[in-house]
Amino acid sequence: MYNVPFLDLPPLQSAAGTVRLPGSKSISNRVLLLAGLSEGTTVVHDLLDSDDTQVMLKALRVLGCRLEREGEALHVTGLGGRLATKTAKLFLGNAGTAMRPLTAALALLAATQGGDFELSGVARMHERPIGDLVDALRQLGCAVDCLGNEGYPPLRLHASGQALRAAQPIRVRGDVSSQFLTALLLALPLVAQAGDIDVEVQGDLISKPYVEITLNLLARFGIVVRREGWQRFTIPRGAAYRSPGHIHVEGDASSASYFIALGAIAADTTPVRIEGVGTDSIQGDIRFVEAAQAMGAQVASGPGWIEVKRGRWPLKAITLDCNHIPDAAMTLAVMALFASGTTRLTNIASWRVKETDRIAAMAIELRKLGAGVVEGEDFIEVTPAAALRPASIHTYDDHRIAMCFSLAAFKGVPVRILDPKCVGKTFPDYFEALFDLVRTPVESVPVLTVDGPTASGKGTLASAVAQALGYHFLDSGAVYRATALSAMRIGVAADDEASLARIAATLPLHFVGGDAHLGSENVADALRAEDVGAMASKVSAWGAVREALRQLQLSFRRIPGLVADGRDMGTVIFPGADLKVFLTASAATRAERRYKQLISKGIPANISTLRADLEARDARDQNRSVSPLKPAQDALLLDNSALTVEASMEQVLTAWEQRRPFG
Ligand code: DC
Repeated sequence: MYNVPFLDLPPLQSAAGTVRLPGSKSISNRVLLLAGLSEGTTVVHDLLDSDDTQVMLKALRVLGCRLEREGEALHVTGLGGRLATKTAKLFLGNAGTAMRPLTAALALLAATQGGDFELSGVARMHERPIGDLVDALRQLGCAVDCLGNEGYPPLRLHASGQALRAAQPIRVRGDVSSQFLTALLLALPLVAQAGDIDVEVQGDLISKPYVEITLNLLARFGIVVRREGWQRFTIPRGAAYRSPGHIHVEGDASSASYFIALGAIAADTTPVRIEGVGTDSIQGDIRFVEAAQAMGAQVASGPGWIEVKRGRWPLKAITLDCNHIPDAAMTLAVMALFASGTTRLTNIASWRVKETDRIAAMAIELRKLGAGVVEGEDFIEVTPAAALRPASIHTYDDHRIAMCFSLAAFKGVPVRILDPKCVGKTFPDYFEALFDLVRTPVESVPVLTVDGPTASGKGTLASAVAQALGYHFLDSGAVYRATALSAMRIGVAADDEASLARIAATLPLHFVGGDAHLGSENVADALRAEDVGAMASKVSAWGAVREALRQLQLSFRRIPGLVADGRDMGTVIFPGADLKVFLTASAATRAERRYKQLISKGIPANISTLRADLEARDARDQNRSVSPLKPAQDALLLDNSALTVEASMEQVLTAWEQRRPFG
């Protein structure tokens, strides 16, 4: 996951390859709750691991469920409908799929078995309405207190001292969120011992496919709900949760929408293949496929897979009632940027009560890119501009905004996604998955170089900058050191240019989580040895060696960007870099830093010898005929003798920001 303040996507060009989707959020949290209420153990396969499921798992653990990981599977031992813990405070983040059903289940359990529970979440959760569910639970005789504003969390659920009135139909509104009905259906079997329980929906039920998921999963847990249309649902008398033993969570169909759109926009030769969800899906958002096809996508699919290619181009603008695909429909609003004409998405009032007011948020952010947007209470209209503007996209702690706007980078502009870690709600590795599939000309991938003499602190600075930007990192010194180490091991001398070049050309060097490996051996420590550094300085003076290592270094320039440190990053390897930093420090300061480094590792050292070595190495690096160490003409010169790493970083990041097009 990218845990950075912002992630800049370069302009992207094409896409191909396979993505395996993480599990569905809606299915995961429903399954967890049902398993938590059941008797016995349920083995859950392919569960989504994200913020929203973590919240549910934590709540279940607090309530006394046993949760054990075994390989990929999670074993959930449920409560069998009996409260093990009678008082608890549960923090549920911004997870509607945890807040609503837990409210219903704990209200019923507290009412029938005694108990006192407090449910709260992040500030936004306290702005998301839950009044319709509270009303339904109060009709039943549950004691539900709204601790802040009436009709909103945080809530207190406690014993009411009165018997439940489950014999009369429970009325619940269905036109604000279908999650209130889902919450009741999931929880009411807890109190169905005495007789049938009827639920009547008031108003037109929205997002029906999510209720279908609920009914489908209840059936898997032994509860067959009868229904008359979408107006009346009956939990049969004697209904009891029965664990299905094993249950498999299918891939998230809403998450699939970004990759379906990706195929439609950018898979112009080979398709994007999506695995984990397909024609057999129980999720309503699978019907996003039809909407994408209407806009021009070419789709093939089967059980558990979908393949998408670009068909009609530019895409076709559509007008669509999106009530059946409320979440995935956000992706259509971004696809509209690639269509000719105006796309109109209607019947999306529920967007206003989601993670953020999604209609307002989409309108603001689409306009930043230059699109024409008209918004209404329950619709949005998007008219693309011929050319977009680079934009910094605010994501409102809403995973779907971050994910769908990443696709705008295919319209020839860089796009900055603020707070990209918000995708953690449903798809923590979304950007990694996206970057695996997309291609762009190498010149579009931004590069920041940090060159300088040995022990100037360039490695520390460059890797910190790479981390702050979420970019790849190339320590080019390691490439020369690895060549030197390999040569030393087989006894090749520092003056044997031809043999050294052969070693360099076939160097089995790769990086694993930041550590250098030669073949299967982790050589991170071996490369730092002083004699290896000295040999590297000699080895690197040969033109044939430098040439042999050039391609390897260039290959580090990958989406989303690169920070490279060394001697000639800005002058020879990446002369077109977007920012070149030349980092220096006085010889005295550098000798002292190296001294402290060695001593802290328990390696004996002498400051004046170190300083002499340093100066000899500087002289060699600066005076060699090929790629000598020198600042690029347009380099930012930074002497960090008196600066902390943080202060140097700030200077570099400020200079970087000035060269970015996000204003
Ligand atoms: O940065 P370092 O100390 O790990 O580099 C080891 C040697 O490699 C250095 O003395 C010179 C050489 N080098 C180079 O010539 N060009 C680079 N881009 C990086 C390192």
